[in-house]
Amino acid sequence: MTYLPAAARYDNEKFYRRSGRSGLKLPAVSLGLWHNFGGVNTLENARNMVRRAFDLGITHFDLANNYGPPPGSAEENFGRILKQDLAACRDELIISTKAGYLMWPGPYGEWGSRKYLLASLDQSLRRMGLDYVDIFYSHRPDPHTPLEETMGALEHAVRSGKALYAAISNYDRQQTEQAAKILKSHGIQCLIHQPKYSMFNRWVEDGLLETLAQNGIGCIAFSPLAQGLLTEKYLHGIPEGSRASTSYGFLRPAEITPDKLDKVRRLNELARARGQSLAQLALAWVLRHPQMTSVLIGASSVAQIEENVATLNRLDFTPNELNAIDGILG
Ligand SMILES: NC(=O)c1ccc[n+]([C@@H]2O[C@H](COP(=O)([O-])OP(=O)(O)OC[C@H]3O[C@@H](n4cnc5c(N)ncnc54)[C@H](OP(=O)(O)O)[C@@H]3O)[C@@H](O)[C@H]2O)c1
Repeated sequence: MTYLPAAARYDNEKFYRRSGRSGLKLPAVSLGLWHNFGGVNTLENARNMVRRAFDLGITHFDLANNYGPPPGSAEENFGRILKQDLAACRDELIISTKAGYLMWPGPYGEWGSRKYLLASLDQSLRRMGLDYVDIFYSHRPDPHTPLEETMGALEHAVRSGKALYAAISNYDRQQTEQAAKILKSHGIQCLIHQPKYSMFNRWVEDGLLETLAQNGIGCIAFSPLAQGLLTEKYLHGIPEGSRASTSYGFLRPAEITPDKLDKVRRLNELARARGQSLAQLALAWVLRHPQMTSVLIGASSVAQIEENVATLNRLDFTPNELNAIDGILG
């Protein structure tokens, strides 16, 4: 059946936030395709999620060379969905990909060399059937490659027209400052940083957010729900089909400790008192920073995306609520 995007998808102007000091706005909730979009998953569910996300105003879809499993298959599936449903909407979409983690054997299949990054970008474009991506990331800093080389590869990606913007992920404060400086010296602005950030992982509050603000770089937080832990999902055990029930090892049952579940229970009560679900509280809490451009969620169903986008109905916090959350998180 032919897909027709919802006419009202851009009705909520407040949904879009500017990335740093750039001209680019991203939706406050973006969709990541790390899990549930690979070759092992049902393409029809992936397709329904992408379509519903777009209908809800989500213009930004985040990928990486290695997303699957198997690696590369999330890009292939996204390429299929694009071709089937969104081909006419390419100019309404912000599609990102990354290179940094292991993708192919041998010395050129991971990290931050020019050889790896540019070959990987070409592969990603082929898998998705695209002429260019909107954002190309260095997925992680490489301790053994000069930062000048890695940033030079990002610059080349932009100058060659294969990427519109350059970005970094998992760089610490100092590495971010250096990367931004090198890019700037080449006339390129670093668009955005993609760090892990949630109520259970607050490292960015220790200087990174400040550095991003100073350098006009946006921020898109990944795993804002701590991979599902910051929802009601695990309160009564590990449900069949959930991320913690799979054998991929990204969310191990051992990480779901009684201490964390106690915090989740108390946060859940606080969320209910605000008239929100815990997932919505956790996302609103990440979005409370003015530098936060977007929360980058994952999802396994259309219903999760709908619930998460509805976070926008209640973003404000009283000082008392923020103190109570700090008290629970300890
Ligand atoms: N740059 C990097 O190094 C890096 C690393 C990791 C991720 N990322 C990016 O960040 C994206 C998001 O990461 P993530 O998937 O870990 O994010 P997340 O939003 O913290 O976790 C997503 C998972 O939480 C559960 N969930 C989501 N909404 C829910 C709801 N309303 N109610 C109950 N459960 C809900 C689902 O788990 P179930 O599947 O169990 O239903 C979903 O798969 C990735 O897709 C990727 O694009 C980047």
